[in-house]
Amino acid sequence: MSKMITLALSKGRIFDETLPMLAKAGITVSEDPETSRKLILPTSSPNLRVIIVRASDVPTYVQYGAADLGVAGYDVLAEHGMDGLYAPIDLGIAKCRMSVAVREGFDYANAVRQGARLRVVTKYVEQAREHFANKGVHVDLIKLYGSMELGPLVGLADAIVDLVSTGNTLKANQLKEVEVISQISSRLVVNQAAYKRRRADLQPLLDAFSKV
Ligand code: ATP
Ligand code: PRP
Ligand code: MG
Repeated sequence: MSKMITLALSKGRIFDETLPMLAKAGITVSEDPETSRKLILPTSSPNLRVIIVRASDVPTYVQYGAADLGVAGYDVLAEHGMDGLYAPIDLGIAKCRMSVAVREGFDYANAVRQGARLRVVTKYVEQAREHFANKGVHVDLIKLYGSMELGPLVGLADAIVDLVSTGNTLKANQLKEVEVISQISSRLVVNQAAYKRRRADLQPLLDAFSKV
């Protein structure tokens, strides 16, 4: 019998969109993380358990081998770095884009043309830094952990770097998207050591994920 495999998922869209892929491999998760307070969830497979962690913590659990694999957005992976991780499969779930947005009345193109120094709030400091450096735009980056859309409305910032999907959140806060930085989807990430040493144990799960 093979040893236990641990899969790290975050509550919400990642868990919800990963479940059908597990189902295709005949695996069901026995509890719903939205209603259960448990952080370790058994599955119908005696060799597989799911741990529930914050979306931005998934790469950390996998990097240190506390989880053998996990599902994380490319936004999170790019910010964390790929040390100790192997990302063999783009699952094509939780699709969105990372964009720059400003208040509806703000002339971003003109500010850039004038060489203005912009204040930008974001959870994605590394990706924002790289984007504006490539464009030669001077920015002061302020790290936030959520509700970035509020920044320009209360005078904390001129612009935000955040995820956009339908654009509803921007619209509801009188913001407009002015640049797309990258297209985002979620990847399966595997601990590099586990990928080498436990390949036979992991392969059925990797196959199930790569079929979708
Ligand atoms: P954390 O707990 O680390 O603060 P979070 O609560 O924002 O993260 P989710 O909102 O579940 O976690 O986002 C998980 C992933 O889903 C993100 O890393 C991103 O790749 C993707 N995502 C985020 N927002 C959207 C969206 N509106 N539409 C589609 N995909 C999204
Ligand atoms: C994400 C993201 C945006 C919003 C964009 O928030 O941070 O605020 O989705 O989606 P939209 O373009 O379809 O409006 P999320 O729903 O994950 O809420 P959170 O603040 O709890 O992360
Ligand atoms: Mg979110």
